[in-house]
Amino acid sequence: MLVLGIESSCDETAAAVVGEGGRSLSDVIASQDEIHSAFGGVVPELAARAHMERVQPVIREALSRAGVGVEDIEGVAVTSGPGLSVCLLVGIQAAKGIALGLGIPLVGVNHLEGHLLASFIDGSRPPPEYPFIGLVASGGHTSLYLASAPGKYKRLGHTLDDAAGEAFDKTAKVLGLPYPGGREIQVLAERGDPRAIDFPRPLLARPGYDFSFSGLKTAVINYVAKMEGELNRADVAASFQAAAVELLVAKTTRAARELGVPRIVVSGGVAANRLLREEFEKAGSRELLQLWFPGLRLCTDNAAMIAHVGRGLLKNGGNDGPGLAPRAVWPL
Ligand code: KG4
Ligand code: ZN
Repeated sequence: MLVLGIESSCDETAAAVVGEGGRSLSDVIASQDEIHSAFGGVVPELAARAHMERVQPVIREALSRAGVGVEDIEGVAVTSGPGLSVCLLVGIQAAKGIALGLGIPLVGVNHLEGHLLASFIDGSRPPPEYPFIGLVASGGHTSLYLASAPGKYKRLGHTLDDAAGEAFDKTAKVLGLPYPGGREIQVLAERGDPRAIDFPRPLLARPGYDFSFSGLKTAVINYVAKMEGELNRADVAASFQAAAVELLVAKTTRAARELGVPRIVVSGGVAANRLLREEFEKAGSRELLQLWFPGLRLCTDNAAMIAHVGRGLLKNGGNDGPGLAPRAVWPL
């Protein structure tokens, strides 16, 4: 079944075609980083306008790179939440136009499920087996799941305040780095000492699997504001990154241990972080855990992950039809 996937929940306009066996035939991403970087975060109205300008060319490009015509598409999958309503609507309208025009089914996909299962489309190694512990850490979300089968997820915990990526982006902003700041922090941190500043690790010692990043973010802001004399930005970046990574790795590996599930799948934009990957690898070899990370391109927002999840829904007869509406809040 040939499925077209469309993603426009935040600041990437993306389209992808997946074919037999869920193999992705094309995966086109138009990033808006240059539009939002000066503002230190996503401006919804500017994002929606950019999606409107780009969604049709991005879809055409995805079809052309896959070497298929629009009439070959057998189903359409689109991110219908969670995300910015004005942005989601652009992708949904485009998806409806194609599905109605061709008389083919249309399904709405939860963006978080897309992230959670991104490792299944990374052809570089065999996909994870169920059950697994899944961490989704992105700019908008930080949640931990027990995935027992496709479509069967139990949320073990989530962030009580900011998302992990948001803390990276805020720290970057106070250090004068552009948005999105995750990669910028990673690069700057390579020159810093992760033990230079003892930033707090909220909820680390508490039982349970919830996260909290706002205390860490505030500690960084206060440290920078109160600093007299020269600020060692690399030390701040490295010390912040060490704290954020420890929170994510400790809670996730603890879940694997306590629930007796020796497989961990990490996804979302923050999964691109090099220190995070290294620390998970260390914990994994210490505790005999198997680990999956999607390739870097599949960590951040893309439509291949949406097409993959949508293909599963479509194959089970799913069809949301013309009534499909955005769901700004949609817990997985
Ligand atoms: O998954 P994503 O593209 O969008 C959301 O669904 O939110 O994630 C974007 C987030 C941003 O906060 C960005 O700073 C962060 O992922 N990010 C990183 C890295 N690359 C992207 N955070 C830490 N280290 C990275 N290398
Ligand atoms: Zn995302």
